[in-house]
Amino acid sequence: MSPIVVSLVGVVIIISITHLLFTRKKTSTYHGKLPPGSMGLPFLGETRQYFTPYSSFDIPPFVKQRRGLLIDIVRYGSIFKTSLVGTPLIISADAELNHIIFQQEGQAFESWYPTTFTQIFGPENLSTLKDIMYKYLKNMVLSLFGPESLKKMIFEVEDEVLTHLNQWCNKDTVELKDATAKMIFNLTAKKLISHDAESSSENLRENFDEIIKGLISFPLNIPGTAYHKCLQGRKKAMKMLRKLLQERKMKPRKLNEDFFDYVLEELSKEGTLLTEGIALDLMFVLLFASFETTSTTLTLAIKFLTDNPLVLQKLTEEHEIILKSRENVLDSRLSWKDYRSMTYTFMVINETLRLANIAPVISRKAIKDVSFKGYTIPAGWPVMVCPPAVHLDSSIYENPLEFNPSRWEGREVHGATKHFMAFGGGMRFCIGADFSKVQMAVFLHYLVTKYRWKPIKGGNTIRTPGLQFPDGFHACFATKSSSTN
Ligand code: HEM
Ligand SMILES: *[C@@H]1O[C@H](CO)[C@@H](O)[C@H](O)[C@H]1NC(C)=O
Ligand SMILES: *[C@@H]1O[C@H](CO)[C@@H](O)[C@H](O)[C@H]1NC(C)=O
Ligand SMILES: *[C@@H]1O[C@H](CO)[C@@H](O)[C@H](O)[C@H]1NC(C)=O
Repeated sequence: MSPIVVSLVGVVIIISITHLLFTRKKTSTYHGKLPPGSMGLPFLGETRQYFTPYSSFDIPPFVKQRRGLLIDIVRYGSIFKTSLVGTPLIISADAELNHIIFQQEGQAFESWYPTTFTQIFGPENLSTLKDIMYKYLKNMVLSLFGPESLKKMIFEVEDEVLTHLNQWCNKDTVELKDATAKMIFNLTAKKLISHDAESSSENLRENFDEIIKGLISFPLNIPGTAYHKCLQGRKKAMKMLRKLLQERKMKPRKLNEDFFDYVLEELSKEGTLLTEGIALDLMFVLLFASFETTSTTLTLAIKFLTDNPLVLQKLTEEHEIILKSRENVLDSRLSWKDYRSMTYTFMVINETLRLANIAPVISRKAIKDVSFKGYTIPAGWPVMVCPPAVHLDSSIYENPLEFNPSRWEGREVHGATKHFMAFGGGMRFCIGADFSKVQMAVFLHYLVTKYRWKPIKGGNTIRTPGLQFPDGFHACFATKSSSTN
């Protein structure tokens, strides 16, 4: 069977299941008119078109066509309706509406996740936990990844980064997507659950790899599909986490060192709202949210630096200045002050995130009728914010497909936040943004000051619409001091 037939059969199966699971939405009464757009085929909607892989960094062709940036194609404008996997929804490629959506969190919009996500992230999830519960968990997470903890964490990040970079030098070739994922996962897992990848026989990360491949893919749950593997991966990962939590319960520790310690302490308190189920789901979400995002961004950053020698040179200069400013160069380590001074580095990171669009969609649901530009988003309708449509808009970023970190110079002053949503926005802004920046900046510092690398093969990307490196990105590494060039 051709892939298309398989997908169509799959969609029909999913739709029937979805219909069994979800009682139909009551036809809500609203005044005004819906945004334009096509609902596609009955039931199937435009699912297939939406999940069609594409290889450019550009705005997804699906959105680009409907928004009307291509000649000869129907144009609906920057907000339009469609139907994906049996759900009618509205897609926003509009910077202004996106901003409103983020600002009106809890008032006009609330979080909503497609069924596929719900199945992967479990019933007791962070995303839908409301009010007190949510704040309480958020505080717990922030105590681990907030500014005070990060200051103390710089040394640990340094050690981790150097260990891995040195290992890379001893190999003929390194596949960077995998190698950075290993590095980031090791550090994150250590912080969260004191999971030591080296000494643990079971590989927790492998399960996450499967999950990622299927997360933003076509949601067809039959053996062989990415989505199926993803759900299996989730099952296995949860089993391992449950086991780790049980082990820790048997051997409690004195100090609050990792997330398990916090969880166990909370669980033992009287009247606590936390349950083991919630804690495990949260752990899963955190491990998941933290390592794939950061490692994909880093891989892409290395790719961009490889392809743009002038940027690499400028970045190297910034870090060599940091080294020179040290009084005692021999036993020097990065300080928080050094970190704060990495201006150009943060531009490189912003620029990489802008083009990477790690989150191709951010979804919400209207909780009341919302009027915008003459259209109505009816209460109950999902809205998918499309960050790439803003990040790659040529009226906001000149030559949007060009990797040009210097464009960030002075942007801050011009209220750039409306035009940059790599970490989301409003109340649900990414909790790990600073943590991931510390990791990336420290990594880049050592990468450019101590090492040289040469690309060997791979490095091309596709989007499904999640960013992937289908052939990996292979390079070889050496220390700068070692001879031969
Ligand atoms: C380059 C790295 C990262 C990117 C691009 C990224 C992106 C995002 C985005 C776009 C959101 C908003 C989702 C929404 O509004 O529905 C988000 C939320 C979140 N991120 Fe990240 N993230 C990154 C790293 C991390 C790390 C390292 C952690 C772990 C500490 C983390 C934990 C979270 C959590 C827990 C949320 C949910 C926050 C909430 O719902 O209030 N992220 N992230
Ligand atoms: C989160 O859990 C609630 C019930 O506990 C469920 O209704 C919702 O669909 C779940 N969402 C996700 C993203 O898992
Ligand atoms: C991962 O972290 C552990 C514990 O801190 C460390 O001993 C190990 O060397 C790290 N693994 C790798 C591959 O560097
Ligand atoms: C990166 O983007 C954020 C959000 O727009 C902005 O606040 C920050 O100043 C930018 N960083 C640099 C170095 O331009």
